[in-house]
Amino acid sequence: MTHIVILVGPPGSGKGTQAEFICKKFGIPQISTGDMLRAAKRAGTLDPKYLAIMDSGKLVPDEAIIELIDGRLKEDDTKDGFLLDGFPRTVPQAEALDALLSKKGLKLDAVVQLDVPRELLEERLVNRRTDLNTGKIYHLLYNPPPEGAKLEHRADDMPDKVRTRQSAYEAQTAALLPYYEAKALLRRVDGVGKPDEVTARLEAALA
Ligand code: AP5
Repeated sequence: MTHIVILVGPPGSGKGTQAEFICKKFGIPQISTGDMLRAAKRAGTLDPKYLAIMDSGKLVPDEAIIELIDGRLKEDDTKDGFLLDGFPRTVPQAEALDALLSKKGLKLDAVVQLDVPRELLEERLVNRRTDLNTGKIYHLLYNPPPEGAKLEHRADDMPDKVRTRQSAYEAQTAALLPYYEAKALLRRVDGVGKPDEVTARLEAALA
């Protein structure tokens, strides 16, 4: 049985944090377009025009992202399912995903919306640090990183960039909620509370 799940939510809602749990539960890989773009940035292979868009907090054009996902879904580890984190982010991306899945004879199982009010998000993001060696996500106050970890403070986690990302979510990504609701795939999860509490809600929503 395959498990194909989408995690959707505004920047800082905890998609990356909760992805670990879902991937372990179903034994599926996490496919994060943000992580893929950042890996290309570190490798020096990201087109500079996309790098500038990303660092400004705006969305990379649909065609580039769809090509990235198309390539990733051809890899062997996706045959038993996968978790999409940060994709799709626009209705054209969602339509392209529908077409890709239908070509492969696959179907989406669930779209989980992590719901966190805007006023909590900025504080989560400006204090986020990611361990470059393990990929683990930390928060300077709620979940401090271990001593000596090699930490990344993302260029788009500065307050002005965070606000641009929030606006991009509201203008372009929030439209996915009615899109998936109409297909009876949407499950809403309250993302406020301790990460473990959110995980328990996610588990119930996916049961
Ligand atoms: P991407 O990397 O996808 O960023 P995002 O959607 O903005 O999401 P984040 O990774 O910032 O947040 P998250 O929800 O994963 O939260 P996290 O778990 O880390 O995209 C980056 C950029 O790439 C985009 O702006 C765009 O330019 C480009 N891009 C990517 N995909 C694209 C696409 N499909 N189309 C076009 N462009 C695309 O948690 C955040 C913080 O909160 C952490 O510090 C964490 O410790 C803390 N935290 C987590 N849970 C809790 C909790 N329950 N309580 C308190 N703190 C918590």
